[in-house]
Amino acid sequence: MKTLQDQITSTLSAFDHALINAQNMADLEKIKFDFLGRSGHLVGLMAQLKPLPLEEKQQFGPLLNSLKQQLQEKITAQETKFARQALEREQKQQQSFDVTAYTPRQIYGSLHVYTSLLTQLEDIFISMGFEVVDGPELESDYYNFQALNIPASHPARDFHDTFWVSSPGMLLRTHTSNVQAHVMQSHTLPLAVFAPGRCYRNEATDATHDFMFTQGECIVIDKNISIGNLLATAKTFLQKLFGKTDLDIRVRPSYFPFVEPGLEIDATCPFCKNGCSLCKKTGWIELLGSGLIHPTVLRENGINPEEYSGFAFGFGMERLAMIKYGISDIRLFRSGKIRFLEQF
Ligand code: PHE
Repeated sequence: MKTLQDQITSTLSAFDHALINAQNMADLEKIKFDFLGRSGHLVGLMAQLKPLPLEEKQQFGPLLNSLKQQLQEKITAQETKFARQALEREQKQQQSFDVTAYTPRQIYGSLHVYTSLLTQLEDIFISMGFEVVDGPELESDYYNFQALNIPASHPARDFHDTFWVSSPGMLLRTHTSNVQAHVMQSHTLPLAVFAPGRCYRNEATDATHDFMFTQGECIVIDKNISIGNLLATAKTFLQKLFGKTDLDIRVRPSYFPFVEPGLEIDATCPFCKNGCSLCKKTGWIELLGSGLIHPTVLRENGINPEEYSGFAFGFGMERLAMIKYGISDIRLFRSGKIRFLEQF
């Protein structure tokens, strides 16, 4: 069996060996644990003192104490060395950080122009006391046409090139006016709703037509609603949208089967005073289809037209965005082109 002296010597050389190989603080911790820890080598050696005669105790006791002290000092020295090296590394890194260095361009995602317009529209209508509602895109002939005073043989259907689906009597809605009949049946009066959403028309696409587009529909029903309410609401909405308090509107007679009278609402061109290419030198741009809700439509949807009246107006959201942001082709909205999308 090794003498205690031999063990002290071999412990020290094992310790030195481990210390030389230590790369970092974690390695040092392990060495500390192995040699100086509660069940480490040093405690093992100390335990061997106990059965020894007094003379040997007096001989080895101080040796073990000095071994412990040596180990502790060496560890501390190595800890200091590692800490200094880490600091030097960090300082070096900071020195080599070049604030003028080229960094590649960061590409950030952004909201789709449609999404940001929708948010603005919702904010405006909510601020004016409207409720935002959704309506079905897969719709029945009844809600899209019949409930809106457009029976099967009505010529107005010619303007709605319809995508029929395989279920009989079902279609992709051609306008958001389908929501009119839904809210009349589901809401209590008075009501004021804004219904944005996708619409579909089975027609050839060009710079101003797409087979899928979005409309926004405003519907107000109460006692004594008049054209005055329609015009005031439309004007306030357009002024808020274009951020122009001096924006004015004018009306032209129009025809939609579900309103009477039907009106086309134009606004003064928000971009010029004397005519530009956007307003085709007229100073006016066509924005809203509108009218007072036809008594037949109110009656069909369970509302007494002697007691209540209402107005509705609708608009193409892409058209609004094209005017507001100067976009030249409606097909860009669904194109997914980064160069288009990142401008908004
Ligand atoms: N739904 C009509 C269209 O798509 C617009 C409209 C809405 C007209 C509400 C009058 C009232 O053209």
